[in-house]
Amino acid sequence: MSQDIPSALEVVQICHYAAQFIRAHSSGAYRVLIVLGSGLGALAEEVQGAVRIPYTDIPGFAAATVAGHAGQLVLGTLEEQPVVLMQGRLHFYEGHPLWRVTLPVRVARELGVEIVILTNAAGGINRTFSVADVMLITDHINLVGMAGHNPLLGQNVDAYGPRFPEMTTAYDAELRALALQAAQSAGISLRQGVYACVAGPNFETPAELRFLRLIGADAVGMSTVHEVLVARHAGMRVLGLSGITNVARLSADEGEPPSHEEVMQAGRLIAPKLFTIVRGVLSRLPTL
Ligand code: HPA
Repeated sequence: MSQDIPSALEVVQICHYAAQFIRAHSSGAYRVLIVLGSGLGALAEEVQGAVRIPYTDIPGFAAATVAGHAGQLVLGTLEEQPVVLMQGRLHFYEGHPLWRVTLPVRVARELGVEIVILTNAAGGINRTFSVADVMLITDHINLVGMAGHNPLLGQNVDAYGPRFPEMTTAYDAELRALALQAAQSAGISLRQGVYACVAGPNFETPAELRFLRLIGADAVGMSTVHEVLVARHAGMRVLGLSGITNVARLSADEGEPPSHEEVMQAGRLIAPKLFTIVRGVLSRLPTL
């Protein structure tokens, strides 16, 4: 086994240990994991009966280092659903191996989670998208995975799922329908499209963005897809929502270069819409 990747038994042990720690500091089982992306952490303030646990306290968890990622778990209820919120996530570009980036998703499974709602900040590639749009992820292109980095590398963790998980149904059709209903009833226009995952941390060149458009991407970001793979491997249902924080500069002559400040600022415009959709989905879950 590669030195970097723990054995299946070690992964299970690390997850059990983390879940045990979280259970000892909170109560009950949880149904939904919500991962809050860059600039989107404020939903955690709305959790009722919240228990907050910094990642640095949880065995096996790494600290979040990116501005706009608070780095704590928030456990409680939202729309009467028992939820675990990740206020900030880990990224590959921070130097963590992908099994560690995605560890919280497996720990959430240990806590009883069946549904994973993943949010992120993304660059808009589809020319009809504007800053502050929200995009429902219908599919993804995992460029990081295609380059050989995958959280499921190494010994398969049979305790969670099969060696060769399929990805044609990665983004749950029923959850997508609930998100569309929730957006429509709140008068929010919800875009739909394909999310391309890149490693970062640099933003893309105009030539890379034209390439991404050519291969069918509507938005590009540096997260989410790894979590989707691990969640689907473990049989959890996935909903993905991207907040479009900047639009692609397909030629160096147009617009302004993107920056993390711009991403954070747009996050504040996106957050109310995205939170309304997430709450709308949670309140409709009993109909699933
Ligand atoms: N590219 C990659 N990731 C991003 C972007 C982008 O333009 N905006 C927000 N996250």
